Amino acid sequence: MNQKIYNRLLEIVKDYPHSLVDRDLLSLLVKYEFDAALSCSTRSAENLIVLTNLIDDKVMTNYFGGVWKQLEGDGPSDEKRLTARIKELKPRTILDIGCGENHLKRSFPALTGLDPYSAAADIRKPLLDYTTGQKYDLVLVLGSINFGGIEKIIAECEKAIRLISERGRLIFRVNPGISHSSDESRWIDFFEWSPSFICNLGHGLGMKVERLERDRGGRIYFEWSALKPKQ
Ligand SMILES: C[S@@+](CC[C@H](N)C(=O)[O-])C[C@H]1O[C@@H](n2cnc3c(N)ncnc32)[C@H](O)[C@@H]1O
Repeated sequence: MNQKIYNRLLEIVKDYPHSLVDRDLLSLLVKYEFDAALSCSTRSAENLIVLTNLIDDKVMTNYFGGVWKQLEGDGPSDEKRLTARIKELKPRTILDIGCGENHLKRSFPALTGLDPYSAAADIRKPLLDYTTGQKYDLVLVLGSINFGGIEKIIAECEKAIRLISERGRLIFRVNPGISHSSDESRWIDFFEWSPSFICNLGHGLGMKVERLERDRGGRIYFEWSALKPKQ
């Protein structure tokens, strides 16, 4: 869950207790604070967690559906270096989770790009809603498992691991919690990844860290492969 939005909603309800019964007032306040217009049917004053998730979805759609731009700079996840690395690994199948503009598809036409907020995606779904019997030799997670609380991050990592084939591999770029500069991203809850979290979570989920490198803009690049071949 997006804790930033939830905490702000609690403050709003404390300042305006009547907003819990006056749904029009709550809608006005939510629009003012989060720039999120919620239709009558989705206004849910009864459950602030439900409301938090609805606002979070609006904030993410607004930001990643049009405002977000890739960082400039050099690092292991740059398109050129990453393309060379992928060719070295020779995957037969690739899933790009949170593919954004789906640029890697230019070099790997058979790649599947998954992204709930991008019109360029092959499949427009959030990772946790993606169901398939397919396994992928390579799963890319470039900046896309980074939003919300630790329970969501772990569930998404487990899901990404379930999607790799027997000797498959995951390539990640993660943000250690650095906020983006644009105003539209102010309510996004960036998870604070760290080298210790990468190693310990990986170990807990049966994954070995194959590479761990600094990436552009203070981001971290790493690769996970299964400690034992998956069954
Ligand atoms: C920082 S951008 C990176 C985009 C792209 N991977 C790149 O490196 O250029 C994060 C991407 O993750 C996507 N994303 C956010 N939440 C997601 C989710 N639950 N499942 C899949 N993709 C998600 C966003 O829409 C956005 O395109």
